[in-house]
Amino acid sequence: MSPQAFRQLMRMHPAAVNIIATGKAPQRTGMTVSAFMSLGVEPPSVVCAINRNAFSYAHMVENQVFSVNTLAVEHNELAKLFAGQAPVFGDERFDAQLWDHFDSGSPCLRQAVMSLECRLIRQVQESTHCLMVGEVISGRHNEAALPLLYRDGQWVTTSEDLRMVPIEATDTR
Ligand SMILES: Cc1cc2nc3c(=O)[nH]c(=O)nc-3n(C[C@H](O)[C@H](O)[C@H](O)COP(=O)(O)O)c2cc1C
Repeated sequence: MSPQAFRQLMRMHPAAVNIIATGKAPQRTGMTVSAFMSLGVEPPSVVCAINRNAFSYAHMVENQVFSVNTLAVEHNELAKLFAGQAPVFGDERFDAQLWDHFDSGSPCLRQAVMSLECRLIRQVQESTHCLMVGEVISGRHNEAALPLLYRDGQWVTTSEDLRMVPIEATDTR
């Protein structure tokens, strides 16, 4: 398949938007990442795919800890900022009013849908990207937040109504 055809297909994939961040002030770095998922529960672990050319990549490797901050719909400007769509870099991307930090020092976005504090336990190199496997040390969440999603080049979210109505009854047996 051609890269163009692949890209076109992947545009249809609805993705939650996260900021992966690392470091302590004034040396924090962070980037917008949609390639993130839960990996397993023993130990609790996650994986994200990071382009090795991204400024944050080397910092994540150096610090050996990072955070995952799943964005709420009101964070769409923040998503653009951390995607490098404005000439603002490194620690200047972090507004003190919006960001707190975990015990390990990694930045924690106060109003995120959820935030995880992770310890880097494994790296898997694959072409341009690196799969960063993190063991989850702690986390926070914000139940009221609606998630920011990205699909077909658009920033979207779920509707409040949709969120309240399960599509099928959940079988909890
Ligand atoms: C919606 C969206 C999702 C993205 N997902 C990823 C991703 O999963 N992995 C990645 O390496 N870059 C991803 N990027 C690109 C990075 O955010 C961008 O290259 C970033 O600016 C790199 O950080 P830097 O400017 O500090 O180098 C994404 C960008 C956007 C807008």
